[in-house]
Amino acid sequence: MTDEINMRESWNLISPHYQKKHQISADFVHYGPHCPNEDQLQLIGDVRGKHILEIGCGGGQCSIAFAKRGAIAAGIDLSDAQIEFARKSAQKEGVEATFSQGNIEDLSAVPDASQDVVFSAFALHYVKDITHCLAEVRRVLVPGGLLVFSLDHPFWDCLADDSMKIVRSYHNCSPWVWDWGEFKDIGVCATMRSFHRKVGEWFRLLREAGLQVLEILEPEPVESGSGQDWSNYYSPQRQRMVPANIIWKARKP
Ligand SMILES: C[S@@+](CC[C@H](N)C(=O)[O-])C[C@H]1O[C@@H](n2cnc3c(N)ncnc32)[C@H](O)[C@@H]1O
Repeated sequence: MTDEINMRESWNLISPHYQKKHQISADFVHYGPHCPNEDQLQLIGDVRGKHILEIGCGGGQCSIAFAKRGAIAAGIDLSDAQIEFARKSAQKEGVEATFSQGNIEDLSAVPDASQDVVFSAFALHYVKDITHCLAEVRRVLVPGGLLVFSLDHPFWDCLADDSMKIVRSYHNCSPWVWDWGEFKDIGVCATMRSFHRKVGEWFRLLREAGLQVLEILEPEPVESGSGQDWSNYYSPQRQRMVPANIIWKARKP
């Protein structure tokens, strides 16, 4: 049943409305709604001359922000519409960053040990074969290279959108099929599938992929700097009680 969901089509459908509504800044490398950005957190630090691959890059805002800071940035995303948006944005901003369509479960277009950093914001929870994806990340990283990624915090996943009520068990790791209902009023609705993985499960997956976890961050919300305003879904008030974002920093030994 869940395999019938075509995530490429779903994101193609949502993308133009999502990008128009959210106006995500390409000036900052963001980690999530009301979450401190990379300039504030410095998890990656100086990126000048570094090869950075963004997996699940969406509209490419973070890749463009990395390129603005001197990185050799490339992004991959499943959605053709997101990639088209990313390419146009890079052109508009006068920034060099390359974007390609693809499923990040398979990074075979990327050479072994070619990337100093693999980065991802709010995308890896959509990936079904995460074991293969992480093995690919390890393959493309240079020794000592970093994987830095953010996700919805798995505990936040358990809360209702409009209250602090727990509506789903933290322990329930079955695939989650849901409607992106944000644009229903204009007749646009796409079915999505995401994977809730507990903190301990992510730790195990990273370790088994041969990556060493260096840091896990569960930031408190900031008023500005996240590059995103999603107050309807991620109210700062609720985020002061429970973290909405989790950020992982891991290293290829
Ligand atoms: C919530 S958006 C985040 C996009 C971007 N990282 C950002 O922060 O704005 C999630 C993105 O993940 C992409 N995605 C989902 N599954 C994917 C997969 N298996 N391979 C590549 N991209 C995927 C979607 O197409 C979508 O653009």
